[in-house]
Amino acid sequence: MSRVCWGVFRESTHSPGRESDDTEILRLTGKHLEAKGFHVELKTADEVTEAEEVWPRFVFLMCERLDVLERLRTLEVSGVPQVNTPRAVHNTYRDRMVAVLDEASVPFIPSRIVATSEPPEPSAPPVWVKRGDVHNTQEGDVVFATTTAAIETALQGLAQRGIKRAVLQPHVEGDLIKFYGIGAGGGPHREPPWFRWFYHKDQKLSGNPLDQRMLARLVRRAAAALGLEVYGGDAIATATGELVLLDVNAWPSFALYRDEASAAIASYLALRFSGGKR
Ligand SMILES: Nc1ncnc2c1ncn2[C@@H]1O[C@H](COP(=O)(O)OP(=O)(O)OP(=O)(O)O)[C@@H](O)[C@H]1O
Ligand SMILES: [Mg+2]
Repeated sequence: MSRVCWGVFRESTHSPGRESDDTEILRLTGKHLEAKGFHVELKTADEVTEAEEVWPRFVFLMCERLDVLERLRTLEVSGVPQVNTPRAVHNTYRDRMVAVLDEASVPFIPSRIVATSEPPEPSAPPVWVKRGDVHNTQEGDVVFATTTAAIETALQGLAQRGIKRAVLQPHVEGDLIKFYGIGAGGGPHREPPWFRWFYHKDQKLSGNPLDQRMLARLVRRAAAALGLEVYGGDAIATATGELVLLDVNAWPSFALYRDEASAAIASYLALRFSGGKR
């Protein structure tokens, strides 16, 4: 039992419309890890907070709630390696992400953090209004506001739900890219990290120029700054060839690449849990 690993599911409230994709990637990763000789136990976030005394040797996690991350953090401090680390997951909370990427000088969509309780300094619409903490969990969390009144309504809606901070971002025109990555780069054999990207399907592409190496580098820099090892997100390729990073998420569903990604994550975890750092 020395190689007992916990895999922790994402809270279903954090997976709107993606519950089964999020569940499947964790399950499949667990299967691949079992084949490598680990004993995997899959847990819900609630089971982690309720667990007592019998702790695993390693944890891989998709959960995001702060109380669960705190619990896992105490385990980590006592020597249980985790992917992603609880701190890295916390860093994807939108307001923290903005601050961490800014501190690390990683280019990110210009983002203004505002209190939801008062009307903001005027921003020229159209503007995206996003809750300041977790990513999109329900209607009203990520809103495209085309007028000043709509910005205020979106902020009031968040305030009424007890969400204190919001992030305001300008609207960027261009081709929407989704990406997935595994590993922060520079592993023991300097193997390139696993990285895939594709154009989001629900859009009419403008055919803007896109430098794939620049995209991979931008994403790796962001992931490294946030401390993420399994990640995904969104970027826009603009008409001038600029790449604008919109969002980085911890351990996404990898939906289009589930089989390939779950095997790659399991290999990465096996290495990481055997003492190889990254
Ligand atoms: N500043 C922006 N400019 C243009 N489009 C944007 C902008 N911000 C968000 N979007 C659009 O809204 C989508 C969701 O935004 P974002 O990724 O920040 O939120 P999320 O909470 O992670 O949602 P999801 O889970 O759907 O990715 C993006 O994929 C993109 O299509
Ligand atoms: Mg997103």
